[in-house]
Amino acid sequence: MASRVDGPLKVTGRAKYGADNNFPGLVHGYVVVGTVAHGEILAMDTTAAKSAPGVVGVYSPFDPLVLRTASTPLLGETWVPLQDKEVTYYGQAIGLVVAETYEQARDAAMTVEVTYARRPVRTSLADGLAEAEDAPAARDGTPATFAVLADGVASIEDALAASPVVVEATYSTAPQNHAAMEPHSAVAVWDADGLTMYSGNQGASLQVAELTASLEIESSAVHTINPFVGGAFGGKGRTSVAAFLAAAAARVLGKPVKVVLTREQIFTTTANRAATVQKITLGSTTGGSLVAVRHDSWCSTAMDRSFVEPTSHGTSREWYATENLAISQKIVPLNIPRTTFMRAPGEAPGSFALESAMDELAAKLAMDPIELRLRNNSTAPPGKDLLWSSKHLDDCYRIGAARFGWADRSPNGRTDGDWQVGLGMATAMFPAIRFPAAVRITLRDDDTAVVGTGGADPGTGLLTVLSLVGAESLDIPPERVTPLLGDSELPPGGLSGGSSATASAGTAIMATAAQIIDELLALASSPGSPFAGKEVSYADGRLFADGGSMTFGEVLRAVNRPSISATGSSAPGEELTKHSFSSWGAQFCEVRVHKWTREARVSRMLGVYDAGRIINDKTARSQIVGGMIWGVSAALHEGLELEANGRFANGDLASYLVPVNADIPDIDVHFVEYPDTLHNPVGAKGLGEIGVVGVAAAIANAIHNATGIRVRHIPITIEDLLGH
Ligand code: MOS
Repeated sequence: MASRVDGPLKVTGRAKYGADNNFPGLVHGYVVVGTVAHGEILAMDTTAAKSAPGVVGVYSPFDPLVLRTASTPLLGETWVPLQDKEVTYYGQAIGLVVAETYEQARDAAMTVEVTYARRPVRTSLADGLAEAEDAPAARDGTPATFAVLADGVASIEDALAASPVVVEATYSTAPQNHAAMEPHSAVAVWDADGLTMYSGNQGASLQVAELTASLEIESSAVHTINPFVGGAFGGKGRTSVAAFLAAAAARVLGKPVKVVLTREQIFTTTANRAATVQKITLGSTTGGSLVAVRHDSWCSTAMDRSFVEPTSHGTSREWYATENLAISQKIVPLNIPRTTFMRAPGEAPGSFALESAMDELAAKLAMDPIELRLRNNSTAPPGKDLLWSSKHLDDCYRIGAARFGWADRSPNGRTDGDWQVGLGMATAMFPAIRFPAAVRITLRDDDTAVVGTGGADPGTGLLTVLSLVGAESLDIPPERVTPLLGDSELPPGGLSGGSSATASAGTAIMATAAQIIDELLALASSPGSPFAGKEVSYADGRLFADGGSMTFGEVLRAVNRPSISATGSSAPGEELTKHSFSSWGAQFCEVRVHKWTREARVSRMLGVYDAGRIINDKTARSQIVGGMIWGVSAALHEGLELEANGRFANGDLASYLVPVNADIPDIDVHFVEYPDTLHNPVGAKGLGEIGVVGVAAAIANAIHNATGIRVRHIPITIEDLLGH
């Protein structure tokens, strides 16, 4: 169990984040944001700003910085600011003021006068449902509207009509902001070689691709550096407006430019989690076997329609065995800030609906909720013949039930003084994903190694995982491995997203370690080497030939090589045609609702997970605990409130509620460890996102158990629990 290798740097303030970089002559940019949600900018009076103290540049759609729309295969098109006069959401970036100090830039930005031709604003998801549009196909190619029907069944309606027991309900979930601790920021420096960008991201190669396209320069002319990232959660997948504007302004000004978004600007100029409405109909036998599952889902999206929160596709498409399945996914374009991936996109809000509905079905059947889920355990996604490579979800349920004292649960909760106490559970699932990744390993003559890849550690523990997998693959202690991340000069290392980084980078490390050990063996037995002409083997950081052994450092010194390096890569391949892959889990919680104040408190939580092999228990647990806390937040605290004019009423950390320590009980995490080497040779399936999945439903289900009140939206507030 390893502590974070970067822990001491972080807790002592020595870790250098993007905005911590300063250079001689550096100037500061402050972003100007619009104050209408829909319209055209007719004029921007920047006269006062231009003559304000210290100001060196004022940019707007009337005096733009040159930027082109960026597009990458993974992220699609990324909007760039200042290129047209259209405003489609409140808080859109519409200008940049650059000055010698941050305060000068901010003060000057406040003097910019904007005149708009306003247009009607659409902000209500509920009002937009009737005119919803079909979403594009899901990432796995499944069309937005999709059905699997048993032989002889004509429609999902027929399957539901023939089901002895049916539950149907509509659920909704609030939009959210990633609200990472480190604000989106950028420091851009140009020299004869091109641009150096210091800005937190989730994968250097993505940022290079977007900057290259938007600035119309060669990728060799962009160097991005982000050794530390203060939280991302999907909100730093795309390059931020701070980075686009800093890069373009620094190019025209010939000076380094720093742009740091304010917390309020982060809520509108980055991107958020969509709001969702989901209607679920479950049909089952009286014995609790699902006959039909229908999941229709709507999500909000910005006017550019660039992101779909894949709720039905992320859950009902795969979670339970059923012969009849129908899902749909629709989008409702609104005048809201852009939406994007946020930790477990699809699965987090989707599981609130599906796992609440499963609880409603269990109640209707008078069946234990775990028993209902065990009865509908799938061996493959419905309608697919690719069996799950490794699935120990039943272990998660059973071990969880025993650890949590589930057997003591009464169907009607219990009381403890003035508190109504209930237990709830839910399934969690997140696909096991792997992306192509490349790593470079260097062996040095002091018997140490460097393992580097261009991915990012946004707090996940990836840096530590690199040192551990590197050490294991090279057969040396982790203290002798220096892990490197967050630099585009390192081989492209996939991204920290989709809970994929350990499987992607880890597999690449294993492949590259084998490669460099082969090179070492060849070197050691080559003419002029200590073991020239002999059969050499490698173990424990040493080379062995008949009669003797040397460390690899000793061999390198003997042949006058300070170091040797190898770059290798790995990518998903044939395994995708043979199996389906996922991580699994079971969430348990105890909630206490106060009889008089109706306050809901989570008093106990447990998550049991099958995420394949756990590389480092300490950082894995920390990832999961963070996800589970986010689940509490989603269930009881967190949600963006949109005013009718499109402004967020709570777009800052003073009014956007998240739990504090006093809201969170001790959290128990348990892993059932079944390495999944069908997915990748490391056997790790990913656990960055599954911790949040199902938690909100488990809490809503516990509240129902405690009070008899079924709340079908999150966050659940005191008002929802009044009147009982
Ligand atoms: Mo994340 S939502 O896996 O970038």
